[in-house]
Amino acid sequence: MTELKILISREQIATRVTAMAADITRDFAGEQVIFVGVLKGAAIFLSDLARQVKLEATFDFIGVSSYGNRPSPAQELKSGWDSTGEVRLTKDADQSMQGKNVILVEDILDTGLTLTYLKKLILARQPKTFRIAALLDKPSRRKQPIQADYVGFSIPDEFVVGYGLDYAERYRNLPDICVVPRE
Ligand code: IMP
Repeated sequence: MTELKILISREQIATRVTAMAADITRDFAGEQVIFVGVLKGAAIFLSDLARQVKLEATFDFIGVSSYGNRPSPAQELKSGWDSTGEVRLTKDADQSMQGKNVILVEDILDTGLTLTYLKKLILARQPKTFRIAALLDKPSRRKQPIQADYVGFSIPDEFVVGYGLDYAERYRNLPDICVVPRE
């Protein structure tokens, strides 16, 4: 397997995820929460985060894909990742969110199109509270004015993989977050 340069090591991830879990535990003390993970990239982050949150919690998962003129992964790398703005739900959550504390868990906040779509969808279901936990944030790429409430790391405009994030479905199982070099 090709050696990729590590941007954020597994030790740095573990330390930061522990701190994020402590923030969530403090903010929702005495309450129950639903962690809603965005498939597939958030699966590893959700499992590490949720195991350190000391609250009564349930899990759910939601699936989305952006469609339209999506470039191939190689083109995305060359010209920067750019979804078209159209997001489609491929898997809905199983539980009702009405009156619940919903924490949407996402791997990376990039243009913000995906989370803007999901925020609108979930708010329409009238949760008691709605928060976003994103492991990574690329603020320089934002097209929609959305922010996460809990952010792991703010990163520059690089294409990253590992710890759940993929490049054409590969590298999700890398334990560190690595940069895919642009040619
Ligand atoms: P947004 O809708 O542009 O904010 O994009 C969010 C989604 O784009 C994430 O859930 C990822 O699936 C994908 N994405 C954005 N940047 C990267 C990256 O650097 N590596 C892997 N996936 C990425």
